[in-house]
Amino acid sequence: MNIRISLSLLAVASLTVLAGNAQAADIVGANSPSTSAEFNISVGASQVQAGPHSRDKAGIGVSTVSGGLKVDFAGLSAYSGKTPINGVTVQTLNVPITGTPGSHSGMGYFSFVKVGSGDVWFGEWSRDGASSFSNRQVYYVGDRTGTTLPAGTASYAVAGLNQFSGSNLLQGTFNADFGAGTLTGVLNGTGLVVGVNASINAGSASFAGAAFANGAAGTTQGQFFGANAASLAGIATFAGNSQYDTAFGGTKN
Ligand code: HEM
Repeated sequence: MNIRISLSLLAVASLTVLAGNAQAADIVGANSPSTSAEFNISVGASQVQAGPHSRDKAGIGVSTVSGGLKVDFAGLSAYSGKTPINGVTVQTLNVPITGTPGSHSGMGYFSFVKVGSGDVWFGEWSRDGASSFSNRQVYYVGDRTGTTLPAGTASYAVAGLNQFSGSNLLQGTFNADFGAGTLTGVLNGTGLVVGVNASINAGSASFAGAAFANGAAGTTQGQFFGANAASLAGIATFAGNSQYDTAFGGTKN
């Protein structure tokens, strides 16, 4: 009996190791705080292997679908509407949550952008989209496998999403100084200016620091992705002024 338990434990252990080997992805991300226990999203490694969904990629889960199990953005891409704006393609999925939630018929309004060539995304979600952006949250998520930071400086063409309703993309330039460990930049949109002033953590290739929007103070956090920091993505959040919460990302110029 004991031997049998040990053998099955061994079998489980080796399966886990195999799964670990197969799973090369290193998914990191963050979302702004949820405003509702009932209606919210979170980002991280995808968990669902069914239908158009694959496991172990950059993903998002919605509280109303299977308790928030995460599905990959790459799979959702095939079903999204695509709006090109100044060289950036904003993807949207519009399945507003009305009536009784709990299935694919009520998932909310998603706007998201793929950053560069990797599995890297930023975006925003709300229960109902442009009609009122209820329970809106912003996020970034991506696979940082193979990420390295270069020496010197680099500039990034960055886009941002804030209450996207079809054309209102924020755009601007961020400047990274990898020697000094700083990332600064400003995004301009219609009636909205969002800036970041962050420090780079070379160990994790992440950044964190201060953000501002139309005079309000907030914080930013994000991540560089790819060899020589080919791209970046992050969020800027404003406690008490969440209307300014913005997701952003872009690639090196
Ligand atoms: C928009 C296009 C989408 C299509 C065509 C689609 C399709 C599917 C299909 C065919 C399955 C397998 C169903 C089954 O095994 O019974 C599935 C499962 C699932 N989908 Fe989607 N899906 C979509 C979007 C989403 C979104 C946006 C989310 C959440 C963010 C999501 C969350 C899930 C979850 C959590 C499961 C697993 C269900 C379970 O655990 O029983 N799906 N989807």
